[in-house]
Amino acid sequence: MMADTLIDEPQVAQPAAEGPQEAIARCVATVMRSRRATRAFKAQPLRREVVEAILQDAAFAPSGANIQPWRVHVLSGAVKNALTDVLVAASRAGTAPARQHFPEPLPDTYRARLMDFGARYYASLGIDRNDTPARTRQTERNYDFFGAPVGLIFSIDRRLKPHSWIDLGLFAQNVMLAAKARGIDTCPQVAFAQFHAPIAEHLHMSPDEVTAFGMSMGYGDPEAEVNRAAMPRERVQDFARFSGFAG
Ligand SMILES: Cc1cc2nc3c(=O)[nH]c(=O)nc-3n(C[C@H](O)[C@H](O)[C@H](O)COP(=O)(O)O)c2cc1C
Repeated sequence: MMADTLIDEPQVAQPAAEGPQEAIARCVATVMRSRRATRAFKAQPLRREVVEAILQDAAFAPSGANIQPWRVHVLSGAVKNALTDVLVAASRAGTAPARQHFPEPLPDTYRARLMDFGARYYASLGIDRNDTPARTRQTERNYDFFGAPVGLIFSIDRRLKPHSWIDLGLFAQNVMLAAKARGIDTCPQVAFAQFHAPIAEHLHMSPDEVTAFGMSMGYGDPEAEVNRAAMPRERVQDFARFSGFAG
């Protein structure tokens, strides 16, 4: 694991004297810091109205020239389960185009973090890193939305440029925070992207639409070890350079 100079404590202390603005900032920070990629869910269903409210809040995300390029397919019940069956079958058939999310070689700094992620993730599942069949089974759990009652597929018009994919990412983060503020957990999942063809067919997407990623949504199981694996963060001084400030 990486050095413990990294931040991995989501707690936000409440100061003795706190004005209304500070209270808002603390609530928002608590939501941001307590959101985690959640990969084990309770069976508790999620009502459609709740998901609608989350998405309506999330739609206040900014977008370049306010074009709001996000599209989202919200799946539950039999439709979600049928998609899972399709994707597990496609994954086992090995017919999907291989999709690399990172360049090869990955620059050292990022490779170190990726390795650290893998160590923490597989340790939380009791999976040996070299146990390829067990890792494959865990990867397949993505397509079951990790047992969440709701699965979302985020798509975007393929004619748009990378710039608009930033908008989609901002929207997705809003979705996760709006969910977390309601006590609802999520996991963003690029694992869906390589299965665009079967997803598009299953969801009757328009030819212009392309699958960007998926997301599991539901009430996380706090007892599950995999949900307890906190991923550390770098400190501000390690990724930000301040200029022109007094003092
Ligand atoms: C764009 C994106 C794609 C991701 N894809 C996956 C995925 O396919 N499967 C998965 O289990 N986690 C996925 N994650 C979750 C990351 O592993 C997780 O966010 C990261 O390790 C930090 O942990 P945290 O979200 O719990 O803080 C993805 C996250 C992002 C932002």
